[in-house]
Amino acid sequence: AAAEKNGFRSFMDKEIHDQPHAVADTLLGRTDINGRLVLDDLRIDESVLRSVDKIVVIACGTAAYAGHVAKYAIEHWCRIPVEVELAHEFRYRDPVVNSKTLVVAVSQSGETMDTLMAVRHAREQGAKVLAIVNTHGSTIPRESDAVLYTHAGPEIAVASTKAFLSQITAAYLLGLYLAQLRGNKFADEIAEILDDLREMPDKIQQVLDRADHVRETARSMADASSVLFLGRHVGFPVALEGALKLKELAYIHAEGFAAGELKHGPIALVEEGQPVFVVVPSPRGRDSLHSKVVSNIQEIRARGARTLVIAEDGDDAVLPFADEVFFVPQSPTLLAPLLTVVPLQIFACELATARGLDVDQPRNLAKSVTVE
Ligand code: G6P
Repeated sequence: AAAEKNGFRSFMDKEIHDQPHAVADTLLGRTDINGRLVLDDLRIDESVLRSVDKIVVIACGTAAYAGHVAKYAIEHWCRIPVEVELAHEFRYRDPVVNSKTLVVAVSQSGETMDTLMAVRHAREQGAKVLAIVNTHGSTIPRESDAVLYTHAGPEIAVASTKAFLSQITAAYLLGLYLAQLRGNKFADEIAEILDDLREMPDKIQQVLDRADHVRETARSMADASSVLFLGRHVGFPVALEGALKLKELAYIHAEGFAAGELKHGPIALVEEGQPVFVVVPSPRGRDSLHSKVVSNIQEIRARGARTLVIAEDGDDAVLPFADEVFFVPQSPTLLAPLLTVVPLQIFACELATARGLDVDQPRNLAKSVTVE
């Protein structure tokens, strides 16, 4: 097992460091010589994909947060409404789906029973199901109409890391492919986004190269009893995933919130010394979201929060209100989750290690949950 860890302390550490490859391999071989997307493994009729009028992403755990991220991108690129739902909720609430609905089932293992039951239910209602799955030959792709494999390689640690990044990547490829098929975007715009995506593995590597600061911070917080996570737009599901990682690995109470929701309740939790991670949108993005989130940092800091800020290189506006800043390279807003989640994974992994816990096999959890 030591050899399989490739010199890393744990599979989780190794898998976090595999992430540039997981993303690169998921992108590999999916464009033709003219730069057009070709999703060969997608055994589904193009006319079906052209007629889709709603997408419903179903998944559990981390895979569901990948779906949350993808919703922002797919709606923006394709103008198709996207719902994201936990598979076990979808299955038991009489959802409105029909032959024009594309259900996208996201699963690392391809064996999660909740997700599989939701796939069966969707197909019974006449929906087409496309699976985004990491494990070849697993049950969910076998029972789906189409499959788009993530190429993250085997994920051994129970809590998901590299599969998450490759799920976002694959879902983005799907979104761009639908935009291409339906003529929602010009070929050169799609080519540009693909170029930006191809730059992400190097940028993820840069985040990994800067991990020491996150690790030190995590070790200094080994006694924390509660950590909050705030994010907005695609940073919101990143905040949810950061909180989930900390619960799973370090058994610390953690909650993620949409930053805009802060004033509607969660700010009541903030007291002296409360650690709060804030995922800050790019100051180069539209819609003034950046300044709104910087105001949130100011508000919680004024109430005594210890602010742990994830921001883009060059974003000096966060400095006056941040106790710690973890900078990530600049990227287009929709691609930022591939970078901003990485310090949160490293934080949870390091903090759990500092507490003497087994990060690969957290208590009470299973890598793939094959019961409902
Ligand atoms: C389990 C794992 C999680 C994972 C979830 C979904 O609960 O502990 O890390 O996100 O299942 O698994 P899947 O294989 O369907 O992605």
